[in-house]
Amino acid sequence: MKRRSFLGKTLIGSLATLIVPKALSASNKPNFSEVIKNEKGPISICTWNFVKANAAAGKALESDLDALSSAIKAAEVEELNDKNTTVGYGGAPDREGNVTLDACVMDHKGDCGSVVAVQNIVHVAALARDVMEKTPHVMLAAEGAESFAKSLGYKQTNLLTEESKESWLEWSKNSKYKPIINIENHDTIGVLCMDKKGNIAGACSTSGLSYKMKGRVGDSSIIGSGLYVDNEIGGAVATGMGEEIIKTVGSFLIVELMRQGYSPQDACDEAIQRIIRKQGEHVDFQVAYIALDKQGRVGSSSIHKGFTYMKYQNGENKNIEVNNFINS
Ligand code: GLY
Repeated sequence: MKRRSFLGKTLIGSLATLIVPKALSASNKPNFSEVIKNEKGPISICTWNFVKANAAAGKALESDLDALSSAIKAAEVEELNDKNTTVGYGGAPDREGNVTLDACVMDHKGDCGSVVAVQNIVHVAALARDVMEKTPHVMLAAEGAESFAKSLGYKQTNLLTEESKESWLEWSKNSKYKPIINIENHDTIGVLCMDKKGNIAGACSTSGLSYKMKGRVGDSSIIGSGLYVDNEIGGAVATGMGEEIIKTVGSFLIVELMRQGYSPQDACDEAIQRIIRKQGEHVDFQVAYIALDKQGRVGSSSIHKGFTYMKYQNGENKNIEVNNFINS
């Protein structure tokens, strides 16, 4: 296992926790409308090899769209992609045959919205934004989220395609439940965007683990686990086994480590190692993170081989392989 000067960082982390931040006075409160020029140009990163999704976000950022709207554009591409069996339309159902979607968004002001276990609505990342902007709440679940979507005019769509129904019926002959998440069976789209003003926002969208128990909710709608953004520091998003991401509050952890001085790379590595330390080295599930800081630096880390992410900057959209900790 890579150690990446872990002891040194732990010491820095302990010292950092001793520094008590000063209370914000009216004059030193962050001004979210302030225009900060992002010299390096906008950046979009997203989980896995979602080339078209990340290009959609990157081009939106270049045409001056804000970070949150651009991140949602990327999520929408995969939500509509019927070949993607882990997000939106065509997503694999639960073990009873219901396709249920989870999503969340977080913007540069620290506002967030989330929906869980939503049926018959394709664009759940946009719905999460509507929860954030049009309700006094952060999270809406199931029928409540669906009625809210209907009231806003969202189209009703049967999310179970013929193909995903066939795969589910095939699976149900043996009903073996061993979710393996990797490049052939990737999950969640998680997106982080930095716009021309230097503001960071993110979005997550997923149908969750294939053939999950009815009612199971993963990390992708849990702010702090699947996604966290602090515009003073940066953001992080997760993919993989949601239960383990929730147990370690992975995305919040990464942003807080970056606040203490970790680079995005070291922060992602530490969040992955924290899971491995809890589980031992025989972990048979995948978790991966990507992170983006205020300087435009990117980090990424995964438990197992096979995770890649996309990075769009200055017109270039690259798929990047990520280092893993366990080779098995
Ligand atoms: N990471 C998606 C899920 O566990 O539902």
